[in-house]
Amino acid sequence: MKTQCLSANLPETAKIAANIIKNGGLVAIPTETVYGLGANGLDEAAVAKIFEAKGRPQDNPLILHICGPEQIELFCHHIPQKAYDLAEAFWPGPLTMVLPARSNVPKRTTGGLSTVAVRCPDHDAAREIIRLAGVPIAAPSANISGKPSTTTAQHVLHDHDGKIELVVDGGPSRVGVESTIVDLTEERPRLLRPGGITPEQLLAVLGDLVVDKAVTAQIDKDEVVKAPGMKYRHYAPQSQVVIVSGSREKAARYIRDHFEPGDRVLCFDEELPLYEGCAPLSYGREADVNTLSAGLFAALRELDDPKIHQVYARCPVGGGVAYAVQNRLKKAAAFHIVDAEEEV
Ligand code: TXA
Ligand code: MG
Repeated sequence: MKTQCLSANLPETAKIAANIIKNGGLVAIPTETVYGLGANGLDEAAVAKIFEAKGRPQDNPLILHICGPEQIELFCHHIPQKAYDLAEAFWPGPLTMVLPARSNVPKRTTGGLSTVAVRCPDHDAAREIIRLAGVPIAAPSANISGKPSTTTAQHVLHDHDGKIELVVDGGPSRVGVESTIVDLTEERPRLLRPGGITPEQLLAVLGDLVVDKAVTAQIDKDEVVKAPGMKYRHYAPQSQVVIVSGSREKAARYIRDHFEPGDRVLCFDEELPLYEGCAPLSYGREADVNTLSAGLFAALRELDDPKIHQVYARCPVGGGVAYAVQNRLKKAAAFHIVDAEEEV
């Protein structure tokens, strides 16, 4: 199959993409978080193609992308007021809500669960494609399963050239990490994955939030978890990643002491001078965490090279969007963290 790549700015692109979706094909769509690998979320056969292209485990459910809050009721039931409050505050935007699924949503889409995840992306081209297709678009991040997510059309082509009909190129993803996921099916709202909508923002609307264990700790493959995707190895380059925490100076001393030829350092712009001779790669400015979220996956992809043995990574501290960056980096490092303050 020849994979077309069309700019999201061309007037015909959304129509072409929508027609492919309507006909049961796969289209990579840009969103504000990461690129998604989209198909008609109500068509079992189309959804099956997503799992095949990604090499995704069958029990890992997909997010349904919709045009706005008015579409929640088409695919969900028993919708609490909290869902409307969150949609009002954060949609379109990087927030996904898990709600009880209506029977028109195929089990293939929900990974066999009785719930479904819905989100309205903050990207004009994405919403236009959904609107023209007339169906919700099921779309996981467009990376091959287990690999760092795709934040450019080139990343998608790298993983899927020749396997999907179309990539819609909307430029680099603005947020750069996947959406925040909140489960609203229990008494208390539960954070399943941190993202561009921060825990602080959620708390301001909900007044209450439980953080799921999968956010903060390594989950065993056989454990039953709320978000099935959280138990799989994620975002990981082929090399080993270790996060080195602590002050800039102590971390640099630890890393320079342990660095061997063939290793790499993943750090902030501000730290580049400290790692001369250690092949440093910056993913953004520590002083502006949005540059770190936007740059993280492209950097992890660059480090996805079998010739690299060890990656020493620096991670931002604190809440807000930094919380999401910490979560993705910790997963890439399989929660392997060294505290340079405790090392002599
Ligand atoms: O920003 C995003 O959310 C991107 C863009 C393309 O929208 N999509 C994305 O999809 O990150 P994916 O498939 O890579 O991650 C979806 C996560 C998985 O961890 C999955 O297990 C979880 O959402 N999920 C989906 N449906 C769920 C459900 N019904 N209950 C719990 N977790 C669910
Ligand atoms: Mg993903």
